Amino acid sequence: MVGFSIPMLGFLLFCCLAVVTESATYLKYKDPKQPVGVRIKDLMKRMSLAEKIGQMTQIELSVATPDVMKNYFIGSVMSGGGTVPAPKATPQTWINMVNSLQKGSLSTRLGIPMMYGVDAVHGYSNAYNATIFPHNVGLGVTRDPQLIKKIGIATALEVRATGVPYVFAPSIAVCRDPRWGRCYESFSEDPKIVESMTEMIPGLQGALPANSTKGVPFVAGKKKVAACAMHYVGDGGTTNGINENDTVISLEGLMSIHMPGYISSVRKGVATIMMSFSSWNGKKMHANRDLITGFLKNKLKFKGFVLSDWEGLDRITSPPHANYSFSVEAGISAGIDMVMVPFNFTEYIDVLTYQVKHNIIPMSRIDDAVKRILRVKFVMGLFENPIADDRLANQLGNPQHRELAREAVRKSLVLLKNGKSADKPLLPLPKKTTKILVAGSHADNLGYQCGGWTITWQGFSGNNLTIGTTILHAIKNTVDPTTQVVYSENPSAEFVKSNKFSYAIVVVGEPPYAESFGDNLNLTIPDPGPSTIYNVCKAVKCVVIVVAGRPLVMQPHLSSTDALVAAWLPGTEGQGVADVLYDYGFTGKLARTWFKRVDQLPMNVGDPHYDPLFPFGFGLTTKPIKA
Ligand code: BGC
Ligand code: BGC
Repeated sequence: MVGFSIPMLGFLLFCCLAVVTESATYLKYKDPKQPVGVRIKDLMKRMSLAEKIGQMTQIELSVATPDVMKNYFIGSVMSGGGTVPAPKATPQTWINMVNSLQKGSLSTRLGIPMMYGVDAVHGYSNAYNATIFPHNVGLGVTRDPQLIKKIGIATALEVRATGVPYVFAPSIAVCRDPRWGRCYESFSEDPKIVESMTEMIPGLQGALPANSTKGVPFVAGKKKVAACAMHYVGDGGTTNGINENDTVISLEGLMSIHMPGYISSVRKGVATIMMSFSSWNGKKMHANRDLITGFLKNKLKFKGFVLSDWEGLDRITSPPHANYSFSVEAGISAGIDMVMVPFNFTEYIDVLTYQVKHNIIPMSRIDDAVKRILRVKFVMGLFENPIADDRLANQLGNPQHRELAREAVRKSLVLLKNGKSADKPLLPLPKKTTKILVAGSHADNLGYQCGGWTITWQGFSGNNLTIGTTILHAIKNTVDPTTQVVYSENPSAEFVKSNKFSYAIVVVGEPPYAESFGDNLNLTIPDPGPSTIYNVCKAVKCVVIVVAGRPLVMQPHLSSTDALVAAWLPGTEGQGVADVLYDYGFTGKLARTWFKRVDQLPMNVGDPHYDPLFPFGFGLTTKPIKA
């Protein structure tokens, strides 16, 4: 009989214990030295179905609690338009909110961190005191990818300032019809401009290392964020510009107009792609297996994850949510990896779980989705740094970012007319005169100049909800201190006549809107804009500045104006508008066609019936007084 001595037994026991504790503490997937592929594999084999489906679930802040995170293994939380932890929340308040939800996720068996996402289509739009950049419709005018990249860098820092690592941006829609309510989210009607503006992605995520594999997501650490190119695909091509409508176009047309931006985004390592509510030739994009799995994943080798839009599965049927089981099956089978549910997550989880358990959706589809989600989380370092600190808090509204936004405003303005005749230009305006008039609904309204997706989903009116410089204040800051600036929002003709103004600046345009609320079939300047133009410009030399998300009907007002400027939706840094009126030269060239009448639409550069008021590429210049 073989006998063990007491010390020998003790030693054996010690060895056993060591092995047990070793395997309890060493988890391969938690080891950053392991290759991402190894970590994914290791984690996947430990995960239950519930844990996997949880990863595929994105919920809204309003229904998220640490317990929900923990009990349902939720993979991601997001803020819908205007959803904030508190009104005018400070970075610290945001950070505390994100961290408290994150702790719920980390307290699960496997401790997989959640990924918090926010909209940031022109800077960090929900956050008080964030730098709000011009909407894309203005940025396209600059044709300056390096500037757009810098905006991405700044936006990433401002979002990270609040502890958030993920943005739903950039929008790479190619708006082919300005009647579309989201046209301002599009850089241009020209796919080449949109394609070049995907430089926003290396700005947000960091520049892709030279040896990276095509299609693999890349996010360079704690000062960068995961990006989301959207909305895949053809969102800007819907019939009559009706939001979420059908994009009727040949495959060749889809590929040459709406797809180039995605090809270049995937090449630049974009982490995620959001689906479009719209259809292509009658088929809902959220259910389009050929374009999601076939093209994006198999052909382009996209290795990040595909996100649904808000209730995007529900909207596969009409009316939405008419047959949710069908929607879930269609969307997940098509290749959607994570679902922006965003509210009724138990219903989604129950339906999807049932379908997997009954082999309606194969386990291989779930595994594909979860691998992609984990890949993004590993790549961005979320496992190593799940808890945010306040080291970047001072980046929110950083003065250098505001300077960058101001530069972007200067470069995004387009001068459409300068003087009744070319030899008598009105701009640049003189700084030193006795008295000038500033008028119009958009002259002193920060909310209006920012447009939709600012502080709230639909945007706001007035000057109290965030920090910035209105155009009126910018003008006051710029003119000589001895020049009297009279502001009257909507002056009567008599008032203008009875004063001796040297010149007037009239700022009119569209009130803010987002998504379908912006769909508009007539595109006229809303009242009282036309009468403001008329009352002022009849009596005094005037420059009219149009603050709008798209070209508006201008032909009837053109002859009464002395100068005309398209300012798009410049954002918080209104100083950039005054800069080009007085000091800097105008350089912007239209990245959209300025139509004459809505009955011409859709009308894009290259079309046979092209007969614009101002063609694509048009823009007058002025000599800079300052460099
Ligand atoms: C949310 C937005 C969202 C929209 C979708 C709104 O209630 O706040 O974030 O885009 O619904 O329709
Ligand atoms: C919009 C997306 C947005 C999401 C979350 C949707 O309605 O289409 O662009 O990211 O809401 O706010």
